Amino acid sequence: MNRDGALESAWQAGMETYTSKNSNTPHSIYDVVIVGGGITGITTALQLQKAGKKCVIAEANNIGFGTTGGTTAHLNTIFDLSYDEAIKKFGEDNARLLAAAGLEAMQLIKTNVQQYEIDCDFSEIDGYLFSVEEDQDELLDKMVEATKQVGLPIEFVDESPFPIPFRKISRVEGQAQFNPIKYIYALAKIFEDNGGVILQQCRVKSIDESDTLTIHTSQGTLLAYNAVYATHIPPGVNILHFRCAPYRSYAIAVKLKNNQYPAALGYDLCEPYHYYRSEVIEGKKYLIAGGEDHKTGHEENTEQCFRRLESFVRKYFDVEEVAFKWSSQFFEPADGLPYIGHLPGNRENIFTATGFGGNGMMFGTLSAIILTDFIQKKENKYANLFEPARVKPVAGFTNFVKEAADVVSHLVGDSFAGKKIEEMAELAAGEATLVKHDGQLIAVYKDMQHQVHAVNAACTHIKCTMHWNNAELSWDCPCHGSRFSIDGELLTAPARKDLEKINLEF
Ligand code: FES
Repeated sequence: MNRDGALESAWQAGMETYTSKNSNTPHSIYDVVIVGGGITGITTALQLQKAGKKCVIAEANNIGFGTTGGTTAHLNTIFDLSYDEAIKKFGEDNARLLAAAGLEAMQLIKTNVQQYEIDCDFSEIDGYLFSVEEDQDELLDKMVEATKQVGLPIEFVDESPFPIPFRKISRVEGQAQFNPIKYIYALAKIFEDNGGVILQQCRVKSIDESDTLTIHTSQGTLLAYNAVYATHIPPGVNILHFRCAPYRSYAIAVKLKNNQYPAALGYDLCEPYHYYRSEVIEGKKYLIAGGEDHKTGHEENTEQCFRRLESFVRKYFDVEEVAFKWSSQFFEPADGLPYIGHLPGNRENIFTATGFGGNGMMFGTLSAIILTDFIQKKENKYANLFEPARVKPVAGFTNFVKEAADVVSHLVGDSFAGKKIEEMAELAAGEATLVKHDGQLIAVYKDMQHQVHAVNAACTHIKCTMHWNNAELSWDCPCHGSRFSIDGELLTAPARKDLEKINLEF
């Protein structure tokens, strides 16, 4: 199974690429085309198919290629947006609604696992939030109080399941974990058994909008009455690209010498925070730790992020070896809540789900519930809370301005970067650089066999300049998070096209 990076995540271990039941398209017109085969797309497709809709999933690569293959798969009802922040920004009623949404998403995952007897290592466990510095205590107090206020079972406790010194620690019940790839593979199969169609290696290039949508793909044309962009961030240029900032997060799966694997989810309150859980993969137990988040394309040496994470984990855990290390992308929404519903600026039959922050498994599942109602023309009680066109100038203003300013500085500033082509000879194997040649900025990588891979350094979204990601061997766009392989193949939206390949003659 492939993923959108060079490193292998723990979930890829031993997993073959999903084999679709058939790659024909039996219907001349579909009720819904779902673009993207991660947890959001597959859960949405299954819910709609079960509701009697004729659905087709068009996945540009293979099922689980995007962030679902790189998540650490924490299933939690406490989100990146803490409930005290949610109350402050959206009011107590809406914060309660957010908690209810989390419970509903959790229930859908549980129901799927039970009803279809899915073997995906699902287990219900407690989550722990803890402070490690004095200045985090007050924040934890506020978080615990607000979490209680919205009705979730949280309390301060005396002991931690993690060997990390803490000042205060709280336990929240009703959290869970699973293997995300086993889970979505099972849902994909059930979807197909119910008559759904999955097209892999099928990139949606564009959609002609009318009551009946014409969807142009790399495998031909599809017709559908509705489309859902379950692509993590919608492609093209949209207001949501200015309301979501792309971030990378780092994870390692380690074997412990003392076999003391915590049976809990854990989160410190550092900035950025670290997160922990345990998992059995192919019969072996691992501690999975994550953190070191940064804005995509804003870290010079992404390998360094792994080193920092590993040395942090080694301080507290008795590490025997690091078995897996990988990074993945998430999109931070401007006001802390995801955008789920009609895609602004498009016809009313085009939908999106994005801005999940670090809670993709939960918000992806929630999106399936909400979008299934929308497409069936039913009311949904969460519609307003997650409305993509919502205007929250106070709540989202600071982030919005900061992210937008950041984008502008990259659009303007980066065009002056770049070495001269003659300096290319100095490039060592495994290194990458930007080179200026004939007025054009070229992104160049020399692989370990000394073969040069050169692509146009201008992002095919809106022309920001690529940054090298030396851990995942990809060109990452610092503006809205598009990512490309060393040969320019598109890995991550919002760009729709590959980078232009350049032939460099020496
Ligand atoms: Fe927008 Fe690259 S993702 S310019």
